[in-house]
Amino acid sequence: MLTDPTAPSAPLLEVRGLRKTYATGGLFTAGRKVVAAEDVAFRIHRGEAVALVGESGSGTSTIARLLMRLEPADGGQALLDGVDVFAREPRRASLGYRRRVQMVFQDPFGSLNPAHDIAHHLTRPLMRLHALNPAHDVAHHLERPAARLAGALSPTAARERAVELLRTVGLEPAEEFMDRHPYELSGGQRQRVAIARSLAADPDLLVADEPTSMLDVSIRMGILNLLAQLKRDRGLAILLITHDLASARFLAERIVVLYRGRVVEDGPSDTVVESPAHPYTRALLASIAEGGGDEATRAARGKGTSTAPSPTGCPFADRCADVHGPCRSSDPAPREHDGRLVRCHLYPVTEPVGARG
Ligand SMILES: Nc1ncnc2c1ncn2[C@@H]1O[C@H](COP(=O)(O)OP(=O)(O)OP(=O)(O)O)[C@@H](O)[C@H]1O
Ligand SMILES: [Mg+2]
Repeated sequence: MLTDPTAPSAPLLEVRGLRKTYATGGLFTAGRKVVAAEDVAFRIHRGEAVALVGESGSGTSTIARLLMRLEPADGGQALLDGVDVFAREPRRASLGYRRRVQMVFQDPFGSLNPAHDIAHHLTRPLMRLHALNPAHDVAHHLERPAARLAGALSPTAARERAVELLRTVGLEPAEEFMDRHPYELSGGQRQRVAIARSLAADPDLLVADEPTSMLDVSIRMGILNLLAQLKRDRGLAILLITHDLASARFLAERIVVLYRGRVVEDGPSDTVVESPAHPYTRALLASIAEGGGDEATRAARGKGTSTAPSPTGCPFADRCADVHGPCRSSDPAPREHDGRLVRCHLYPVTEPVGARG
């Protein structure tokens, strides 16, 4: 069934059957493979936040990198307003995609250039955005640099807009921040600058990969509140990658739980957190209830890695408290259960389910 991109309920982004496997290993272990994404499907609507949650190595950042086209997928589709962004598309469409989907990284210091002031970080993408004419493809802009100046912002106008962006992300007095360098700011302030820079491209979707995990606990909430405000006020769609189910529930309407590169549960945040269906989601929640919170889920670092060939059964069977007959012999297909999608033999198969909206 194809999505009609013009329908009001059509998703902004629809991911289908996304796959990525890495070959790893050295001299004596050559041929080992890591399944980082397998049959991943989910949807994000305009103005909606979706959280991708999973322990370390579950494939969350891989999905972000594939969506940002930092590396190629082995298979699957990512449809932005119905257009497959992985397909060999005209360069013009690619240019639009790069503007419309922006990323915020975990380490705000690493993503900002210490040699440049904040004004530089914000005015550059603003000038680039306005210098590029959406009516022309990349080749046109490269071949005719003079044409780039036609719609360009003046440096003064770019600076004014940059100051506005700093206000939007809560950095006041904004004028003072313009001339500072990244090393003069706190971690939280740097992450706000990184968010402001992503907004300079006027995106539809923000992919935020653990945007608060390197920040002091006391300032994490401020960043989540800022993202919530951008979602509400600008209709920005957000893909939040986090280990922390509490943050996921706070910001996101839907939670997509990943285990070894597979979506094991996908549903409304309240449903997933209040009555988790998949034993893995339950285990994640239990680790928080035991008092570890984000730290407890981090303690699982490395355990979510899958080395192929995987057994024929459910990839979670070895760690599952509810393991039974079919779990060892057959890999469960996704099925509907109580308003969400779940990939587990505990629940009867209804009908094949694709991505959910
Ligand atoms: N370039 C690569 N080469 C080989 N293996 C890789 C590569 N990138 C990722 N992997 C492996 O793929 C799996 C998923 O990695 P990914 O970075 O997506 O995990 P993650 O869910 O983001 O984990 P974390 O929460 O620790 O950031 C891991 O086992 C990782 O070691
Ligand atoms: Mg990661």
